[in-house]
Amino acid sequence: MTTSVFDNTIELPNEEVKKRTQNLIGFENKFQRIFGNLKLLLDQEGLVEWSKKFHGVELPIIHQLTDRYPLVILEGDAGTGKTVSAEGIADRMVRELKKEGFFLKLSTRVRGEGLHGQMGNLVNSAFAELKTQAGKKRLAFLLIDEADAIATTRSTLQMHQEEKAAVNTLIQKIDEVRELKGRAVIFMSTNRLHFIDEAIIRRAAVVLKFERPTDEERKELFAKSLEGIKLTAEQLQELSQLTSPEQNDNLGHSFSDIMLKILPEAIAASFPYNALTFEILCNTIRNIKPSPEIK
Ligand SMILES: Nc1ncnc2c1ncn2[C@@H]1O[C@H](COP(=O)(O)OP(=O)(O)OP(=O)(O)O)[C@@H](O)[C@H]1O
Ligand SMILES: [Mg+2]
Repeated sequence: MTTSVFDNTIELPNEEVKKRTQNLIGFENKFQRIFGNLKLLLDQEGLVEWSKKFHGVELPIIHQLTDRYPLVILEGDAGTGKTVSAEGIADRMVRELKKEGFFLKLSTRVRGEGLHGQMGNLVNSAFAELKTQAGKKRLAFLLIDEADAIATTRSTLQMHQEEKAAVNTLIQKIDEVRELKGRAVIFMSTNRLHFIDEAIIRRAAVVLKFERPTDEERKELFAKSLEGIKLTAEQLQELSQLTSPEQNDNLGHSFSDIMLKILPEAIAASFPYNALTFEILCNTIRNIKPSPEIK
């Protein structure tokens, strides 16, 4: 197998991922929700030990608990943090469970070329690699980013035979991952949950919704990323207002609109001769429309 199938592979725990994750607003709640759902699946030996220690036997229910699918679906609008959070969640999980980990991201590039006939092969090699990497002390994560490109519902009429076959392969592989006994986890991200095949959604242990930031979250985002610039509470409030749905035809700026467009542009307008000011920030925001919602 060539590594070109994957955008990147990361060894976990990873300091860079950890740092990036610390700056994510609302991360802790999302992590707890997913970890709460997966921890029984991911520590099956621990669960057996627990059962024997406290009850003297392996409780029958344990084997049902561990029969679930280690599949997490991250769904929501563009730029709401699905991709960055997947890495962060994997990194944190590995730390919580005191294990090591390997994170594979399925390349969007290969899919972007429209190689539909090869989709099945792609899925097969991704899961083969996942199996190779998974070990007793090592969790293997696979992120199928923008999964609607590959996991599209089979009920779509125009769907080609090869595409249907690829979805079938994907479902079969998800089923097989259970045999790895909690040593592998699959994340799928999508902007369009309604395009994802029902059989895949049904298997998910968690479907987590990502949204654009609330008023409070936008304020926190500006405050955190501009810490060191003296902005008053009123000014932060104003920045949050300018990026709110009320001021932008009912759709506010996304996390990535603020982090990857507004702030870099505001800095570019100041650097290298002037300080970054509240006025520059306001003017920049007025010139950048929120990215459209993906439906
Ligand atoms: N919760 C957050 N807190 C702070 N910044 C965030 C948050 N979520 C996203 N961002 C910023 O937005 C950028 C884009 O996030 P990301 O690429 O994960 O979005 P996405 O949901 O995967 O979008 P797409 O659907 O377009 O792939 C990140 O690099 C980060 O700078
Ligand atoms: Mg993404």
